[in-house]
Amino acid sequence: MRYLTKVTSPDKFSTQCLILGVFEGRQPGESLGKLDKSAATAIKSALKKRDISGKSGQTLMLYDVDGIHAERVMLVGLGKKKSLSAKSLASAMEKAVSQLNDNAARDCALLMPPEFADTSSLYAAARDLVLTAEGQLYRFDQCKSKKDRPAHPLSKMTLITGSRTASTAVRKALTHAQAIASGMNLAKTLANLPGNICTPSYLADQAKKIGSNSSKLKVSALTEKQMEKLGMGALLSVSRGSREPAKLIVMDYRGGPANSRPVVLVGKGLTFDAGGISLKPSANMDEMKYDMCGGASVIGTLQACAELQLPINVVGIIPSSENLPDGAANKPGDIVTSMAGLTIEILNTDAEGRLILCDALTYAERFKPAAVVDIATLTGACVVALGHHTTGLLANDDKLADELFQAGNDINDPCWRLPMNDDYSRQLDSNFADIANIGGKGAGTITAACFLGKFTEKYKWAHLDIAGTAWKSGDKSATGRPVPMLMQMLLRRSKLAE
Ligand code: BES
Ligand code: MN
Ligand code: ZN
Repeated sequence: MRYLTKVTSPDKFSTQCLILGVFEGRQPGESLGKLDKSAATAIKSALKKRDISGKSGQTLMLYDVDGIHAERVMLVGLGKKKSLSAKSLASAMEKAVSQLNDNAARDCALLMPPEFADTSSLYAAARDLVLTAEGQLYRFDQCKSKKDRPAHPLSKMTLITGSRTASTAVRKALTHAQAIASGMNLAKTLANLPGNICTPSYLADQAKKIGSNSSKLKVSALTEKQMEKLGMGALLSVSRGSREPAKLIVMDYRGGPANSRPVVLVGKGLTFDAGGISLKPSANMDEMKYDMCGGASVIGTLQACAELQLPINVVGIIPSSENLPDGAANKPGDIVTSMAGLTIEILNTDAEGRLILCDALTYAERFKPAAVVDIATLTGACVVALGHHTTGLLANDDKLADELFQAGNDINDPCWRLPMNDDYSRQLDSNFADIANIGGKGAGTITAACFLGKFTEKYKWAHLDIAGTAWKSGDKSATGRPVPMLMQMLLRRSKLAE
């Protein structure tokens, strides 16, 4: 959908549907003051009929409203006036957007509640609105031969504001949010695609396609042969059980000064995780096509960086492989040597994410990173600890952890930090190698992070475990998280976020 902003009087604006907010208790708030007298009277008398109370998400469609130029007026309940926020506006508008997508109106205009007084709250409100609307409009029907698409899809939304300064803040938010939403949609689609289509080679090709649209983004992919030369014995051991060649995708975005150190994002790109010889149970195993969501979020984030031409350097690294049982696959007890030289005893072949990530994290050193953030659907234990709402955050640097925590909070894509220390690390002691790839009973998310921590001592590093937040289990759809959190962090580093 296209988003625009305009300074105008809402009653005179030409649109198929003018959207006005109503607070609980049928209070139109300051919006009424923005309409001429006859229009305000008409809205007031409609409210008196009591078909809408103002509860969040309620809608009421009015036609041929006196004094209003628009074909329709949609009243949308915004909830309690005193709890109006960017987030509450966005969630109130969720249903309205899908209704408008299903009805005959193709364009709409929302009067931004005048109660948003300062530019930073307007920025957040417009941004969250776009992210929510795009979330509502996203469909994945690539693999259906008959597409069930609306007859009159909503294709344009204008956000009406009362001043030039307001409009400037909103315009900036629209630019940022549209890039973030496109990045999320790309991440969702890559994730929703099945494992037989979205292979490591497919991911690499898609990443290269994004690179070809931007002169500042160079994309390449290391082959297994090249990885072998680098000594990536951990990554390659996972791929040995698969007929699809592994790839190490590198997306190098240079928007900042040449000498400025990049933020490096490393995303787990397991295009299907059957567990290997430590085979997973078959129930819901299809969901393990989502084991590349970390990688998809990195690709989506790099696309958004390039689209916004952020004035910083960002590198994306996506180790990508399948994890399948096979005669050549890793076996419990096998010992492999990582690129860093550490030997790893593979006690469970289903703990493969850390094996492909550790070599990618060692590879990240060559970019002399300002900070490294890895993103991975790493542990089922994280779903037990934090459920499906909050991403797990672990780090070797407090400032970086706080930065991500704040960014996630700002943009409704939250994470929560878990501890890491030597007591947990010792759970990885191995009888036969430098470390084992599992940490035994208890604290599975933390011991997984401790494993990665052995390979990240040379730089500031944070790990996001998105096992619970990357996709919805029930209706089986990817969420595009944590693209918003990462983009908010990068916008802040670019000094661009409000
Ligand atoms: N990709 C899985 C983690 C996962 C499981 C994410 C379920 C989302 C939902 C990962 O590769 C894995 O299998 N981890 C094991 C680790 C264990 C063997 C130490 C797990 O969590 O069971
Ligand atoms: Mn696994
Ligand atoms: Zn996995």
